[in-house]
Amino acid sequence: MHLALASSMDEPWIRQLLTLCGLPHEDITPEHLRHFWVIKEKGEILGTVGLEILGCSALLRSLAVDPRFRQRGFASELAKKAEDYAASLNIEAVYLLTMTAESFFGKRGYQKIGRISAPTEIQGATEFRSLCPASSVCMAKPLSF
Ligand SMILES: CC(C)(COP(=O)(O)OP(=O)(O)OC[C@H]1O[C@@H](n2cnc3c(N)ncnc32)[C@H](O)[C@@H]1OP(=O)(O)O)[C@@H](O)C(=O)NCCC(=O)NCCS
Repeated sequence: MHLALASSMDEPWIRQLLTLCGLPHEDITPEHLRHFWVIKEKGEILGTVGLEILGCSALLRSLAVDPRFRQRGFASELAKKAEDYAASLNIEAVYLLTMTAESFFGKRGYQKIGRISAPTEIQGATEFRSLCPASSVCMAKPLSF
């Protein structure tokens, strides 16, 4: 098993995994994929995460692990990789929207906030504007340096 930056060849498999996990992928562009990571084993993608850098903030998105490989710490590793990368860019806080993983993120330092409390750049992301239902929970985690 290894965790690495996604390559352009991973794109169809990332989209397939996101679909399998019920997450949107329609807005993902090659530019977004520069900040996507994958966990692979024997060439198969088991998990992924993406980060959109938006001003001094980042949107953590597309955290997904193949249902056959859950409860092994893969999502925790992927989220940490994305956060460490954000911190290396002096990003102040990471934001996300989730329908199903509030408790997962709550245990990892994220706090629920109102959508309108998120920075303007984050609110402008397509995931925020149109892809995630208004009922999804918005969470934030400040990064310390
Ligand atoms: C949410 C999601 C990404 C979690 O993936 P995961 O790989 O199962 O997550 P992890 O294994 O890192 O953590 C899950 C639990 O397994 C536990 N765990 C980790 N390693 C373990 C191991 N070796 N053995 C047993 N349990 C383990 C963790 O402690 C964690 O429990 P906790 O949340 O109570 O602390 C996955 O369920 C998913 O893809 N959901 C659908 C998509 C989604 O909702 N994504 C979030 C929105 S962006």
